[in-house]
Amino acid sequence: MNLVVGVGLRGGTSYRELRDLVNDVVAEAGGGVVRVVVTVEGREAEPGLQRLAAALGAELHTVPAAELSRLPAPTPSEQVELLAGTPSVAEAAVLVAGADLLVPKRRSPNATAAVGRLPAPAYTAGEREVVHRVLAERRDVRRGFIDRPIDDDLLMRVLESAHRAPSVGLSQPWDFLLIRDIATRRKVHDLATAQRDAFAASLPPDRRQAFDGLKIEAILDTPLNIAVTCDPGRGGRHVLGRHADPRTTWFSAAIAIQNLWLAARAEGLGVGWVSFFEPGEVAAVLDLPAHIELVGYLCVGHVEEFAPAPELVRSGWAARRPLAWAVHYDQWGQRGTTSIEDDAAQAGKAQAVGKQSVRVVVGGDAAEHLELADALVVHLGSEKPVADFGVLWRPARTPVEAVELGVEVARDLALQGVGELVVQVVEQSELADGLARGLRAGALACGVAWSG
Ligand SMILES: Cc1cc2nc3c(=O)[nH]c(=O)nc-3n(C[C@H](O)[C@H](O)[C@H](O)COP(=O)(O)O)c2cc1C
Repeated sequence: MNLVVGVGLRGGTSYRELRDLVNDVVAEAGGGVVRVVVTVEGREAEPGLQRLAAALGAELHTVPAAELSRLPAPTPSEQVELLAGTPSVAEAAVLVAGADLLVPKRRSPNATAAVGRLPAPAYTAGEREVVHRVLAERRDVRRGFIDRPIDDDLLMRVLESAHRAPSVGLSQPWDFLLIRDIATRRKVHDLATAQRDAFAASLPPDRRQAFDGLKIEAILDTPLNIAVTCDPGRGGRHVLGRHADPRTTWFSAAIAIQNLWLAARAEGLGVGWVSFFEPGEVAAVLDLPAHIELVGYLCVGHVEEFAPAPELVRSGWAARRPLAWAVHYDQWGQRGTTSIEDDAAQAGKAQAVGKQSVRVVVGGDAAEHLELADALVVHLGSEKPVADFGVLWRPARTPVEAVELGVEVARDLALQGVGELVVQVVEQSELADGLARGLRAGALACGVAWSG
């Protein structure tokens, strides 16, 4: 346990007296390591106190009396206030250090001491900044790779970080297949190209034009590809935490990829994740054993630079979702504003990034509408429909929830390049009307043209 000891003392108090008092209060707290000794400003030069801090291996901090006097110490003293300018030194010193008071003020003839518990220490401000920088500056890189081999030690450091990822039951279900062979990479590249073409063909014309300008992989532009795989059976029958949710195995492997991605960024290595594949086809090219599944296919290499923002943002393909949209308080949909429509109106930060027109059909038979690439059918029923990216399942339970889900749909479409919603309400119900109202509110808030 990390402790902070607050000390009040008269001038000239001996080291021995302080030591005995502090030993007593630390023992009363149940023991622990004293990280900080805090006292009132003006006492820092006291030899007994300095020796105490040195003997404990603790930092000695001082705080102005005025600051201590503002803290609600449980045992204030008028006498101390007259002498020190604050009604509490020891207890207030513990509180000012951000600790929870464990042992209130105890006295010796010339000193007082109190003990508090410090939470586990955070990194220093500078260290924290670096961690947050890596998180913010990690990029999916597809272009700008340079012809430079990857040093083995560097690669092992990155893989070591990936391998340190958390995993369900410590099953570590991942493996890293390092692929340098150009013939293999060509075959994988062919698979990605075929999927790219198929995706392009599924897009409405304006969206397709935008997609044509995007690069979606760097399989042949990088010296190294890494296939990160998952063994769903790793660890046998009784893997702790997996029994109720087998997906945790795949989550674990995905987290390993994120660790790899971040470590690579810190080391100056670019990583691009390619998922334009049928995973089974890649597994066949890589000749994976049948029980091993592909989770992620990564293109890795040194790069000219890391872009300041995601490529999909810079190209205008998509926009980032504001954090406020993703945070709910206690109940789904409760986002700290009075109503979802108010919330939509305050969504000023997210503006539609594109001009694509989408025809949103609320209710009705999906098959009738999905022939055309610009249609999106919203299914409100409680039965989950057959998976199809053209059908959005939004099983609203109340008209209010339907409004909210409509707002969300409009906002999410705005982030994905939609600039116009043409809403067609097929279903006659309060829920359908609510959803349409939400679509309108969300569209207007994001600058998306609306008609219906
Ligand atoms: C599971 C997953 C699959 C992805 N697949 C591809 C892909 O096939 N092609 C591509 O260019 N980017 C792919 N990406 C990268 C995303 O487009 C990228 O992470 C996103 O646009 C945000 O950009 P950033 O990673 O630079 O912050 C994938 C990312 C993830 C997490």
